[in-house]
Amino acid sequence: MSDPFDLIVIGSGPGGYVCAIRAAQLGMKVAVIDKRGAHGGTCLNVGCIPSKAMLHTSHLYHDASHSFENFGIEVSKPKLNLKKMMGHKQNVIDANVGGISFLFKKNKITDYFGAAEIIAQDKVKITDADGKVTEIAGKNIVIATGSDSVSLPGIEIDEKQIVSSTGALELEKVPEHMVVIGGGVIGLELGSVWSRLGAKVTVVEYLDRILPGMDLEVAKTFARTLKKQGMDIKTGKKVTGVEKAGNGLKVGLEPAKGGDASTIDADIVLVAVGRRPYTDNLGLETIGVKRDDRGRVEIDAQYRTNVSNIFAIGDVTVGPMLAHKAEDEGIAVAEILAGQAGHVNYDVIPGVVYTMPEVASVGKTEEELKEAGIEYTVGKFPFTANGRAKAMDMTDGMVKILADKKTDRVLGCHIIGATAGDLIHEAAVLMEFSGSAEDLARTCHAHPTLAEAVREAALAIGDGPIHM
Ligand code: NAI
Repeated sequence: MSDPFDLIVIGSGPGGYVCAIRAAQLGMKVAVIDKRGAHGGTCLNVGCIPSKAMLHTSHLYHDASHSFENFGIEVSKPKLNLKKMMGHKQNVIDANVGGISFLFKKNKITDYFGAAEIIAQDKVKITDADGKVTEIAGKNIVIATGSDSVSLPGIEIDEKQIVSSTGALELEKVPEHMVVIGGGVIGLELGSVWSRLGAKVTVVEYLDRILPGMDLEVAKTFARTLKKQGMDIKTGKKVTGVEKAGNGLKVGLEPAKGGDASTIDADIVLVAVGRRPYTDNLGLETIGVKRDDRGRVEIDAQYRTNVSNIFAIGDVTVGPMLAHKAEDEGIAVAEILAGQAGHVNYDVIPGVVYTMPEVASVGKTEEELKEAGIEYTVGKFPFTANGRAKAMDMTDGMVKILADKKTDRVLGCHIIGATAGDLIHEAAVLMEFSGSAEDLARTCHAHPTLAEAVREAALAIGDGPIHM
């Protein structure tokens, strides 16, 4: 066995690869293991990155089919070449995945492809695709194995007709009717991709709202927008089963509160009802790493498990299953191991739904503030009153800022609109510095930009916006 590594990272998704790079930057000798055969985890290979490629190209197709005309651009009806669109998606994946390998080399990180099993507190066994076994030793181990999609009882995902997000990014033709089970982030993002490419899309959500956890007013506005775009959203309904019927599928539904059952015909069903922490065959039982009742690896405030040199970050632990949360935790662990004060501010983790318009959120929602009994003021500004949004014909949506009633400190920001996922960072940076709505309102914003709507929402908390 070679000399021990300072750090072995299991999983090279956004949590793992960022942790490895930061640790190497801080002078550690690092190894990374991934069983996928490509670095980047779910995010780069079958998640965030490919879905954004599809969201972008499907948006272009939709614009060319429906919106160009409004801008005086006359083109003949565009023809979809799905194979080529998928080719673009694959190029994007390859470029990003290749980038990680380059960064590993640059930072002198040793990478292994194979399934990792922790066989002792300081030893990891790697079994590659050909069955070849390598054992490596490490002073510290970080578990960054991510998560896997879940299904509902009795519904078996075959990734052809009944798909998870992975299969939904690989469909060979545009479905006639896609039924999406779950009105969360995955269901709405991928549902909107196929809807823009021409599929009829029906979203079935158990709760009486979509996007649970997001600001309710924003979620309601978003549901209206998606319906206007042609998506059928059935809330308060539970799926009882999916049966094969000839070449198609029959989806059984029931009102969540009980009542008459019904069925919908579909050719593709996307199951998007959440993800579970992935810790299969990692050897956690052997070395006694504790997990909670939801299968998440238990950690302390410094990401340490009950085994003192073993850490865990990202989807496999508590908290939102978001790539950027995992990345920040990866950096924090590397810094803690280097004796620094690595830390993540969980009050300022943005969340984005990459649809068109986008939905973005940071900090507390109105519902959370009410529940906590915190008095707050609300400032809102619609994109219909923003000059740039008008020029772009993207006036759907609004910015909403929530500030502490006494101190004016910004506690949350919720945006629905074009580029909301970028705009939200105005509020994120402000909140990181404990800024007030007035700080934001007094910051000069370039004109004409969509970001002016963020400033106007901050003005709305004080004396009022200029353009309303
Ligand atoms: P989710 O937890 O966001 O949404 C699942 C939805 O399914 C919920 O609204 C839930 O009420 C509903 N549901 C559960 N059981 C149901 C049933 N029997 N019938 C109908 N509806 C049912 O999970 P999702 O969308 O699968 O995403 C998984 C994770 O991946 C989330 O943590 C999400 O934040 C993350 N993710 C984040 C993205 C982003 O940040 N843009 C993109 C993709 C995933």
